[in-house]
Amino acid sequence: MTFQSDFLWGAGSAAYQVEGAWNEDGKGASIWDAFSHSPGHIRNGETGDTAADAYHLFEADLTIIKELGLNTYRFSISWPRVLPTGRGLVNEKGLAYYDGIVNRLLALGVTPFVTLYHWDLPLALEEEGGWENRKTAEAFIEYASLIAQHFDGRVKRYITFNEPQCFLGLGYGSGIHAPGKKLSEQELVQCIHHVLLAHGGAIAAMRAASASPLEIGLASTGKLCYPVLGGATARNLEYDGRSAQQASYDATFAPEENDWTFSHTWLLDATILGRYPESFAAFRLLNDTLTESELRILREPMDFIGLNVYNGIPVDAKGNKVNKPPGFPRTALKWPVTPECMYYGLRFLYQRYGLPLIITENGQSCNDRIFLDGGVHDADRIDFLARYLQQLRRAADEGIPVNGYFHWSLTDNFEWNCGYDERFGLVYVDYATQIRIIKDSGYWYRDIIKNNGNAHNG
Ligand code: NOJ
Repeated sequence: MTFQSDFLWGAGSAAYQVEGAWNEDGKGASIWDAFSHSPGHIRNGETGDTAADAYHLFEADLTIIKELGLNTYRFSISWPRVLPTGRGLVNEKGLAYYDGIVNRLLALGVTPFVTLYHWDLPLALEEEGGWENRKTAEAFIEYASLIAQHFDGRVKRYITFNEPQCFLGLGYGSGIHAPGKKLSEQELVQCIHHVLLAHGGAIAAMRAASASPLEIGLASTGKLCYPVLGGATARNLEYDGRSAQQASYDATFAPEENDWTFSHTWLLDATILGRYPESFAAFRLLNDTLTESELRILREPMDFIGLNVYNGIPVDAKGNKVNKPPGFPRTALKWPVTPECMYYGLRFLYQRYGLPLIITENGQSCNDRIFLDGGVHDADRIDFLARYLQQLRRAADEGIPVNGYFHWSLTDNFEWNCGYDERFGLVYVDYATQIRIIKDSGYWYRDIIKNNGNAHNG
C-alpha cells in the first residue's frame, strides 16, 4: 500500500509570519503588531511589519507552489485585515487580497486550505479582554461565517484554530508570545473554554453559511511519546512490546506537570470526546459547571484532526522518559530529531479519537544560507523529511487514515519570538531584497510529490 491517489501534498504559512503590510489598505492592528512593537519581546527587536512581504509578493510565491507541484497550500487569513476591529465593519481591500490568493490557487489547480486563526487576534478585541472574554468567541463565530459565506464554493477546507496549546499556553500562560499575559491556571482554563466554544460555534455557523459541503478541523500540537528499548540511542531502537506501546500511549495523554498546556488531551478530549480531562482541579471545576448546550457546542462534529508534529519523547516500558544521550541529533532550534513520533502520534491519536488525520505541519529550522554557487543546500532538512515521511508512510501502510501532509513552511518567515533567525522554509527568503531561492529540500520535496511519496523508499 502507498499514499492514496488524492493524498494532499502541501506546505503552509501564516498571515503574520509572511504578509507584512501590517497597517496597509485598512488593516487593523493585531496583538502581534502590538507585542512585536513593544521592546524586549522578540529576538533582535524584529517585527512582522514587512516579514516576507507576501502581501505584495504572493503571486511569486504561488508560482513557486506550482513549480514545486504542491496540490494544496495552507495559509491563514488575518482576522484584523478583514475585520479591522474584530467585528462589524468589513475591510473590502482585505477580503480582496485573499480573493486574489484563492482565485489564483484555483486557476493553478491547487486546493486552498485556510486557517482562520493563526494567532493574530485583532488588538481591539484584546483590549476588551481577548480570550478571557467570552464575547471574543462570539466575534470569532461572526468572522468565521463571513469567511465561509464569502468563499462559498471556492474554499472547502478549513482549520478553525492553529495550536490552541501554543497561543494560549505561551500567550496567556508563560507570556512569551502575544499578548504576553501570565494568567493563573484557573484563568487560563477559562480562556481555553472560550476558544473551544468559538471553535464549535464556528463549525456550525460555517456549515450554515456555506451552500457547499465543508471539511473543517483544527490543528493540534502537544506531547507525543514513543517507545524505546533500553536507552534512546541515536537510532532510537524501538521497543515493540505491547506493554511499552501502551505505556507510551498513556504517557502521551497524561498531563505534563510543568508544561500542562502542551498536550493534545484537553483540546481533543473536549472537542471530540466531549469532556475536559479530570487531571487538573481547574478542569474539574469547569466540567462541573458545563451546561448541556455548552457541551453540544464543544462537541460539534469536525471532519479531521490536523496534527502539527515536530518532535516527541522517548519512554521506556513503564512510560518513564528516557534520557537522550549527549550529542543526540537536533535542529537549529535545538529541537530533537525523533521521527518515530510521526508514526506513533498518528497511531495514538487515531486510536483515541477515531477521526481521519492530516499532518498540518512538520519540518525543521536549519541555519540556511546562500552558498558560493548561489544555491541553498539544506541536506539536514532533506534527511529530516525523509525520516519523518518514512514514518508517515508506515502509518498509512497500516491503514491509519492520514489524508495529507503539509511541510512547514513554504517560505522562510517570522518565527514569532525568535524573529528571522529561524528558517523553516522550502524556499529561502533574502529579507534585504525579498528575493526567493528554492532550497535543495524544495526540489527534493517536488520529486517526492511527483511520485506520490515513493521516492524515498526506492
Ligand atoms: C507552530 C506554528 O503553527 C508555526 O506558526 C511555527 O512557525 C512553527 N510551529 C514552528 O515553530
